[in-house]
Amino acid sequence: MDTKTGSDIEVVETLARGQGFAEAVRAGLACAPKIIPAKYFYDAEGARLFAAICDLPEYYLTRVELEILRARAHAAAALAGPGCHLIEFGSGASVKVGLLLDALVQPRSYVAIDISREFLLAGARAVAQTHPRLRVVAVHGDYAGPEALALPDLGAGRRLGFFPGSTIGNLTPEESVGFLKRARVLLENGDLIVGVDTKKDKKILDAAYDDAQGVTADFNLNLLRRANAELGADFDLAAFRHVAFYNAARGWIEMHLESLKAQAVRVSGRAFPFRAGETILTEISCKYAVAEFQDVARAAGFAPLEAWTDDRARFSVHYLRGTG
Ligand code: AVI
Repeated sequence: MDTKTGSDIEVVETLARGQGFAEAVRAGLACAPKIIPAKYFYDAEGARLFAAICDLPEYYLTRVELEILRARAHAAAALAGPGCHLIEFGSGASVKVGLLLDALVQPRSYVAIDISREFLLAGARAVAQTHPRLRVVAVHGDYAGPEALALPDLGAGRRLGFFPGSTIGNLTPEESVGFLKRARVLLENGDLIVGVDTKKDKKILDAAYDDAQGVTADFNLNLLRRANAELGADFDLAAFRHVAFYNAARGWIEMHLESLKAQAVRVSGRAFPFRAGETILTEISCKYAVAEFQDVARAAGFAPLEAWTDDRARFSVHYLRGTG
């Protein structure tokens, strides 16, 4: 762990640049069916495209979560109590965390954890600028990975986790239980606020992940662009297409990259054959009824204290308390 103190934020490095991408692509393309984990979407261009997705008319998640947070930030702050440390898993949207920081009574510190260095530093700096007296720590790390993350000494005070955006949906329900168990240890049995997208009409969900302007398609295809740039792969982007749909039986969105023809792609000197129509699974995005997610939280040792939704129940924000 390498800690640097900048003029405005502390930066903790727990990851080498690009760590794991080459191994994940090579291992994932050798699997049947082929798969590349969604966490590799977020190079600088992927982070920029994701920010553009959040503004799309079809992608209701960000807007509705903000609406809920605006209405409930003070209720959440009352549950958390004064003097807590706010720890965000996956940073970036500093506007969301700003709502919480402004509602919390005398927060002691803000710790942002993210795998995307660009996203992490931009988000942490934005918070430091708007909250000049707050201690701000940026941890470059994989919060969803299997290893426990080390945080710098934060001192006394309740730890309050914040995991917005329904990013937990990008894990399977089983992986989510594992993530929540590790989060409970990191939070020292403190509290966790988590944004979770809900089950709804397939047409609305399909459109949210296959927008008319093609921004989500570009976001998905950018994974191949990244592999070409960083791994010397030779993906022909015109020979793949974005496919996204709600799988109601599984309760999740699936995003794939479909090969438009039989072809072989070389990655780091090794050839990977594709059949026409064969896909790489690049993301799942699980949708939960409120009670379903509460069961996941309980399985990880959290007690659900509140579940706030908008008036049409398009999104939920859960307030959980660590037990044990
Ligand atoms: C980051 N995550 C919550 C987004 C989602 O909705 O699953 C990623 C995304 N993929 C396509 N559009 C947005």
